[in-house]
Amino acid sequence: MSEPTVLGIESTCDETAAAIVRGRTLVSNVVASSMEEHARYGGVIPEIASRAHAEAFVPVVSKALADANMELSDVDAIAVSAGPGLAGCLAVGVSGAKALAWAANKPIYGINHVIGHIAVTQLQFGPFPKDTLALIVSGGHTSLLHVEDVARHVDVVGTTLDDAAGECFDKVARLLGFPYPGGPHIDKHGQLGDPHAIKVPQGLTKGKAGKEHPYDFSFSGVKTAVARWVEAQQAAGKEIPVDDVCASLADSVATVLANKAMHGCEEYGSKTLIVGGGFSANSQLRAKLLEVGKEHGVEVRIPQIKLCTDNGAMVAMLGVNLVEAGVRPSSPDFPIDSAMPMNVISV
Ligand code: KG4
Ligand code: ZN
Repeated sequence: MSEPTVLGIESTCDETAAAIVRGRTLVSNVVASSMEEHARYGGVIPEIASRAHAEAFVPVVSKALADANMELSDVDAIAVSAGPGLAGCLAVGVSGAKALAWAANKPIYGINHVIGHIAVTQLQFGPFPKDTLALIVSGGHTSLLHVEDVARHVDVVGTTLDDAAGECFDKVARLLGFPYPGGPHIDKHGQLGDPHAIKVPQGLTKGKAGKEHPYDFSFSGVKTAVARWVEAQQAAGKEIPVDDVCASLADSVATVLANKAMHGCEEYGSKTLIVGGGFSANSQLRAKLLEVGKEHGVEVRIPQIKLCTDNGAMVAMLGVNLVEAGVRPSSPDFPIDSAMPMNVISV
């Protein structure tokens, strides 16, 4: 099959999404979000998200097919996120996808959502070079991966020892009074502030810890340092320079991510860095990665903004990789795995 056509279905968190990818071409892409229903609770409520998936599943998949001018019989395979994510949410998407696969007699692949976040870059930049490095920055994950073959073999080079970068932003945003999800608000305010106004620690970069964990990350200290600083300002009756706090936080996090990623590229002899995950929409990180990439002669491949956050295209694209590589489809009784390890590509 030279250019497989795959329907990708996503329901790990608060987006119900479906897309069709043919080869490296995005044919249709539909996303419905329940984000607004969670905003007043300050975070995603799994029960509400699961119900929203149950309501959106058929309309979203139908629209993805209609936009592509296709019927289910026209696709070569179905791919669905089987994890990691919220169990109730995953169950809706996986059950729906299994029903479609069974009704249309199509192969189905239960894929790793996180690997989908990097796979999606192929829609813009073409196939992965062999043995490349990848930086995953999603809401729940911050990791450096060595991707030997995106369909068959991925190793974890480093990962966060505590909070993910996205989580750290969301927590600081909450402290500053921004609504959920806070990441984009920190981004916007950070663009207006002074990135060197406040000293924000860079976890695992110096001394013994830095040597022992060259590719690991730690962001909980960052969050605590910012919280302490804000509290001290408040105790002294001073106004919080929100833009400066955001700019300093964003600069610290982007610098650590970019430096460790470049160090990894050197170590693994990779001339390419693949980036993915919701946090890769962050403008400070995008600018920093492109800057250090240029300095180190590394081509940095970051998805366009609409493909950074959760979507079906990432799932369909990884599905295409699996079909192309001749990987065996998942069995009809494959389980969901809310804590799917990062080195599992499909189940
Ligand atoms: O990958 P994603 O859509 O969901 C997961 O799979 O976890 O990532 C969501 C995360 C949230 O933490 C959100 O605040 C963050 O991505 N995010 C951003 C930006 N856009 C989304 N963080 C910083 N700046 C942004 N522009
Ligand atoms: Zn995601």
